[in-house]
Amino acid sequence: MSKTQELYKYAKEHIPGGTQLLSKRAEQFAPEQWPAYFTKAKGCEVWDLDGNHYYDMTLSGIGACLLGYADPDVSEAVINRIQNGSMSTLNPPEEVELADKLCEIHPWASQARFARTGGEIGAVAVRIARATTGRDMVAICGYHGWSDWYLAANLGDEPALDGHHIKGLKANGVPQGLRNTAVTFLYDSKEEFDEVIRKYGDRLACVIMEPMRNTLPEDGFLEYVRDGIHKAGGLLIYDEITIGWRHGFGGAHLSLGVNPDMAIFAKALGNGHPIAAVIGTEEAMKGAHETFISSTYWTESVGPVAALATIKKMEETRIWEHANKIGQMAKDTWDRMAKKHNLPAESFGRPCLAHFKFTKYPQELKTLYVALMLKKGFLGTTGFYPSLAHTPEIMALHEKAVDEVFAEIAEILKKDSLDEIKKAIGGPCSDPGFQRLVK
Ligand SMILES: Cc1ncc(COP(=O)(O)O)c(C=O)c1O
Repeated sequence: MSKTQELYKYAKEHIPGGTQLLSKRAEQFAPEQWPAYFTKAKGCEVWDLDGNHYYDMTLSGIGACLLGYADPDVSEAVINRIQNGSMSTLNPPEEVELADKLCEIHPWASQARFARTGGEIGAVAVRIARATTGRDMVAICGYHGWSDWYLAANLGDEPALDGHHIKGLKANGVPQGLRNTAVTFLYDSKEEFDEVIRKYGDRLACVIMEPMRNTLPEDGFLEYVRDGIHKAGGLLIYDEITIGWRHGFGGAHLSLGVNPDMAIFAKALGNGHPIAAVIGTEEAMKGAHETFISSTYWTESVGPVAALATIKKMEETRIWEHANKIGQMAKDTWDRMAKKHNLPAESFGRPCLAHFKFTKYPQELKTLYVALMLKKGFLGTTGFYPSLAHTPEIMALHEKAVDEVFAEIAEILKKDSLDEIKKAIGGPCSDPGFQRLVK
């Protein structure tokens, strides 16, 4: 067994869940084959524990590294700050500059608070909304992290969060007392939103949703939700943690033309260095003065320094244009090669968050694709978040690999047998959701 596989096997016995992020579990890709650990990451290339080299055509650090791994300009700013001390008894002045910068990019906002992860900043924003409105209930659309306020939606009789990006999220350990504090509605469903407002409107502190993810909103949907929650006396929070900066500069809501009362950012904001922000209007943020929100490492300097350097470079390179162009190339590759090899596969999603799916044997063929791409020297799956480091030259290498892998899959599919596909995978099949790893 390779060092990489051995370490992951060991980790599963000593780190419940194997890793700290569901989306980094090898079980999401090709169990017993996926190289779970890296020793070096640069641009869009990674090296595993056994010294194998891969082009990373997956999620670029699960959406964190929009400028590519170890971006030289961000690294330089961070190293400089570290050499001058990244932590002290006093505060980093860069956080004030970052607050100003974010509010300059989003003129509707005038205040900011910072944390270090997406889940944290979502909890901060929801707490502020509850404090400002004096109400308890939250209406949720989409995925917003691991916190109690969010998982509370799954305390009811139905797993209400199942339609919201990640299936099977367990709420064990979330206090039963939080039952009926979080309700859900589906994106683009005015009917479900109306139902939430009709039943709970006067108890809602806020709506929290991504302004978009895989599709643009239907005409008027964002305005409808904004007006509905405002009429009910609640606040609107946009979660820009994944879509922010890559669809367009700043939050996607800027180009969609609908302003929230608060917006949250993390992931790409620090290009691999932890930083998260909530920005908001003075009115929406007033509750923040009356509730205790405070943490030691939210005051270190690397986060705001990395964010300022990242924002500068994202703007200079117009990264969102690059991300959309490169993502479209990946989508075209998948569609063209599916046609060439007559495979049941098609692309979907916005180019900056490009995806494809197998319409037959989806989980098994996805696993087979991952396993075969590994053999060609690519981390590849059914999703691809492009970064600045993904050049047209690398996309051409990717196209060649997809061509060869789709040809192999087509050959295996000729027998139209699930057993043959499973045999070809050469290991267990991947699992799409949340599950216990060690029995
Ligand atoms: C839209 C959205 N919100 C919140 C989160 C949680 O962020 P984090 O994983 O940094 O806690 C994610 C992570 O995937 C996300 O996509």
